[in-house]
Amino acid sequence: MVNAPAQIKHDNTASAGPTPAERLWMMSAEDMAAVDALIIQRMDSPVGMIPNLAQHLVGAGGKRLRPLLTIATARLCGYEGTSHHKLAAAVEFIHSATLLHDDVVDESELRRGQKPANLIWGNSASILVGDFLFARAFNLMVETNSMDALGILSNASSVIAEGEVQQLAALRDVNMTETAYMEVISAKTAALFAAATEVSPVIAGRSEGERNALRDYGLKLGLAFQLVDDALDYGGFESALGKSVGDDFREGKMTLPVIRAVAAANADNNAAEIEFWHRVIVDHKQSDVDLETAVSLLRKAGALDATMDMARQFSKEARDALSIFPESPWRETLMDLADFVIDRIN
Ligand code: IPE
Ligand code: IPE
Ligand code: MG
Ligand code: MG
Ligand code: MG
Repeated sequence: MVNAPAQIKHDNTASAGPTPAERLWMMSAEDMAAVDALIIQRMDSPVGMIPNLAQHLVGAGGKRLRPLLTIATARLCGYEGTSHHKLAAAVEFIHSATLLHDDVVDESELRRGQKPANLIWGNSASILVGDFLFARAFNLMVETNSMDALGILSNASSVIAEGEVQQLAALRDVNMTETAYMEVISAKTAALFAAATEVSPVIAGRSEGERNALRDYGLKLGLAFQLVDDALDYGGFESALGKSVGDDFREGKMTLPVIRAVAAANADNNAAEIEFWHRVIVDHKQSDVDLETAVSLLRKAGALDATMDMARQFSKEARDALSIFPESPWRETLMDLADFVIDRIN
């Protein structure tokens, strides 16, 4: 697989030293070690295929961004108990389950730098172990005795599934609107980020205002995160991403970069471009050079820059949502994380 030409521009004004994600990791090291231990313990089962398959995904790492958000926001809220470990592990289990299912749906060939589990154990095994991890997430949530946290995360779980189904139904629909796209990414990605940050003020017994602010922070961060993911699918590097570039294109998935390029083709009445998008998306007839052509059309329409601009706007809104909290190292690092999500290359 050849990488599409990189064209996502980062301003390299950030000073050297650890990234905000690395700083959060250092600040949360003890908590995250407890979360990791829980993850390893709770993915065990006497049915050997379950831990083998789960370990293949979990052992490959991943950024652990969502559990880190639960831990860091719990600390921001001054939480002193241990439920945040269980909730963070549950959040990562929900995420892991969606990845196992996602690679079946997307027919991906690379996940976290290695073969997706379904290409080793088969689609059925991946779906079923995904279900197991979902169920284990619910065990963990119940153990916290927080009906509110359970409500937030179970709601997010159904919303994620809705988002994935809405996206499936819109596959190869070259007329998919930006509104529908925003609904899909809010549901399939931002809902879990929002839940991961909203449970913290809930278990810490903080005010409604703080709960709303942290939900908003997670939601906006998640929207920015998926917008960047969709830009990286055309402009990133496979070696850094640990997943294939061009997956969305090959699937005929309408993401914001393509929606913008199609809109530009329509606005210019450019018959050749309209025909191109129709062939590769609707007819789903693609040849080897089409990804490259698609990338050049995205560049011509400024579609990747527009996608990154929108991500930057949400990132700023995420940062602003935290302003109701008093200054603290946790608040500052969570604010900086919003910038980091934009600059990420994986
Ligand atoms: C991948 O999420 C799924 C999306 C929402 C784009 P991550 O990029 O957080 O995946 P890992 O956990 O780091 O592998
Ligand atoms: C991720 O969307 C959404 C979920 C995992 C629910 P993608 O399909 O873009 O995620 P990647 O790019 O495969 O990680
Ligand atoms: Mg997908
Ligand atoms: Mg995918
Ligand atoms: Mg993607």
